[in-house]
Amino acid sequence: MSKRSDWAFKIGLVMARSEISEEVAFKLSNLGSEVTPTQTAEAGINLLSDPGIDVLVADIDAIELDCLDFLKSCKRTKPDTAVILLGSAFDAEVAFEAARLGAYQCLSKPIEPDRMVDVIDHALDGARLKREASTVRQMVVGYRRSDRFIVGKSEVMQKIAEVIEKVARSRASTVLIQGESGTGKELIAKAIHFRGAPEAPFMEITCSSLPENLLESELFGYEKGAFTDAKSSKAGLVELAEGGTLFLDEIGELPLNLQAKLLRLIEMKRFRRIGGVKDIEVSTRIIAATNRDLKAAMDHGKFREDLYFRLMVIPIYVPALRERKDDIPILASYFIDYFNAELNKSVRGLSREAQEVMLNYHWPGNVRELRNTIERAILLESTDLILPEHLPHEMLEASHSPSRSLSSSISPSVPISLKEAERRAIVAALAWSGGNKSKAARLLGISRQTLRQKIKALGLAKN
Ligand SMILES: Nc1ncnc2c1ncn2[C@@H]1O[C@H](COP(=O)(O)OP(=O)(O)OP(=O)(O)O)[C@@H](O)[C@H]1O
Ligand SMILES: [Mg+2]
Repeated sequence: MSKRSDWAFKIGLVMARSEISEEVAFKLSNLGSEVTPTQTAEAGINLLSDPGIDVLVADIDAIELDCLDFLKSCKRTKPDTAVILLGSAFDAEVAFEAARLGAYQCLSKPIEPDRMVDVIDHALDGARLKREASTVRQMVVGYRRSDRFIVGKSEVMQKIAEVIEKVARSRASTVLIQGESGTGKELIAKAIHFRGAPEAPFMEITCSSLPENLLESELFGYEKGAFTDAKSSKAGLVELAEGGTLFLDEIGELPLNLQAKLLRLIEMKRFRRIGGVKDIEVSTRIIAATNRDLKAAMDHGKFREDLYFRLMVIPIYVPALRERKDDIPILASYFIDYFNAELNKSVRGLSREAQEVMLNYHWPGNVRELRNTIERAILLESTDLILPEHLPHEMLEASHSPSRSLSSSISPSVPISLKEAERRAIVAALAWSGGNKSKAARLLGISRQTLRQKIKALGLAKN
């Protein structure tokens, strides 16, 4: 899957003038990039700070500096910028060292211009992610309440954003939010409230959390002496939410008797405390949420029809994450941003392969599961990109996408021997895993012991 849509980046080329370099520059400019060609190592390094390019491609045969020294200078000047090295003869040791120093990729010449454009496309992912992460704050719905935003750019989330906006500004008194667990129902309820009346009280209760009598006294309060333990009177949540919002989560679990009381409250805007003799008037917005099929509950006599239709005046249906996959990348970068700040890490984003795994997954736990996945990956890993191996096992198994991290580095422009392919796969795996042999072995599907033997046999050992 190529994200060819976004090429508005600055790319530096350090290459001798040739037909190839001109063709590459031409193709990149056509895609929308700003290309700056230079011919010397010094000019290349200068490009990193001024004008601040996003990817640097350098032909090491064309420069007067040693390739690793050049790379070190680049990384010192701008550690985050992807550097792609071209060379006619990359020694395995040099390629490995270059990967360790942070080269994005070492490419052997001759190379087709199209293949080079492909590699640059991959290398731009880091810059794209960063751009996405910095714009995420201004995304679609910026309902701010401490650190919470509703993030999403799918059409359906945009529609929901509009509804939230309208309802928040209106005097609409009831809203019903339906959707699977973890889709963001509570977040939406809070958005409506904080968007409309941020200073007013927001009271919430989960209808399945208490037995009926306790739920009733929590909701409606009681007068002194209403029952044995009622030593003094107490206001319920309905009263405490006056002027603000009462959020009834898991409304499908509300006992029938309380459904009748709730209906009266909604219709009359008044209620009585338990044991009370006079009505209390309130103007409280009621937002109900459920992950159950209320219609089915109604058909089975477990939910009152009149209450159902009263709540359905403003229905919001939040689709499962798998039904709005457009939201996955932006949610992921939002949570990466969030947990970087929270956990003091500096993960740049998802690798393309990890993103594919996520896009192919069915997310039974929806956004909550995505959030937990990113939190775990950031907490446990120290690499700067989240790779497929940082994702839960079941996610990788469920994903049908073959990992392309290795295949891309062993598909050369000219045929190579099997031994060379093996060598490149090992170099790439070691680079991906930051030199960690256990991880590299896992990526290659071989044991650590076998990997060690191969490293030795191929002369890749560092001493
Ligand atoms: N669009 C979104 N943007 C940002 N964060 C989101 C979004 N949707 C959900 N979340 C986050 O995912 C988690 C789950 O959301 P929430 O608690 O609102 O789900 P829910 O639908 O109420 O789930 P449940 O039915 O299990 O109660 C929360 O941490 C929430 O902040
Ligand atoms: Mg909830």
